[in-house]
Amino acid sequence: MVNCPVTSTTSTAPAKFILFGEHAVVYGYPSIACPLLQLKSTAKITPHCSPQNNHSRIIAPDINLVSSLDKSNRKHKLVKVINTILNSLNITSTFKDSIHVVSDIPLSSGLGSSASISTAVIKALNDHLNLNLTTEQINKFVYETEVIQHGSPSGVDNTVIAYEKPILYQKDYPTEALSPPVPLLFIVANSGTPSSTFNSINKFTKNYKNNKRVYDTAMQNITEIVREGKNAFNSGDYKLLGQLMNQNHEILDALGVTTQLTNILVKTSLESGALGAKISGAGYGGNIVAITEKEHYQEVSSALAKISSHTIITQIS
Ligand code: PMV
Repeated sequence: MVNCPVTSTTSTAPAKFILFGEHAVVYGYPSIACPLLQLKSTAKITPHCSPQNNHSRIIAPDINLVSSLDKSNRKHKLVKVINTILNSLNITSTFKDSIHVVSDIPLSSGLGSSASISTAVIKALNDHLNLNLTTEQINKFVYETEVIQHGSPSGVDNTVIAYEKPILYQKDYPTEALSPPVPLLFIVANSGTPSSTFNSINKFTKNYKNNKRVYDTAMQNITEIVREGKNAFNSGDYKLLGQLMNQNHEILDALGVTTQLTNILVKTSLESGALGAKISGAGYGGNIVAITEKEHYQEVSSALAKISSHTIITQIS
């Protein structure tokens, strides 16, 4: 029996929620996103220990996947993603270890599961192989995998997840880190309806092409909300953030991004004491996010828990 000479390496990456500007961000408008640290993906790299087992493998029990990473197995999306990562890192021919991936982030729900998994894998490879990648390099590699998954993503998901900080993100502009002077309390609630980001972006784009004037005006209004939202966020203005979230939700609702269930979650949040609530992420299902002051969060979260498949209370600081 040969002892494995190298220890395994584990890395994690969080989920995320979008506070303002989803969809518009795909067309170059700004958005604000926050990490959701309560949910995470974990990647573990285990060195191969015997000459018989010298091919790289991906093991993802959540989706019943155990696969080698050789050429014959490139059809599965996660296999493609991992191979893209190995290729970007220039280690395809030398990497012989196993990558084990688990995630507690629900898939297709607007919480950035795909970007989170890729980030965890790249961070684990970075540590395991001493690659000395910067966070910005990790971010760029994750974006490449997001293109495989979602077609033409804006880049907000990979950026907020790679940096694990609240950000104002706009394509082709430097990303700004945001920092509230007081912790901000949010509740994220899942409608239980999955919705793929790829399909959502395509649906939105199709509607945009058919109704350019309405969508352009809507996205300009969202941009105003993001600009005001940035100041409200950085000054810890709960009330204004709530108002702006409601306005952003109304616009997304008018553009057809919401569902009956997400609207019930938003209405329930407001009726139980939240200062604002909106759909978060790609929509057409997925999650909503509500902002609530400390005095009300228990009422809001228990009202939401009755109708949501999963609620998470999170504090952003
Ligand atoms: O990952 P999701 O489902 O939260 O979608 C991200 C938000 C979108 O703006 C709809 C897409 C994008 O790439 O920014």
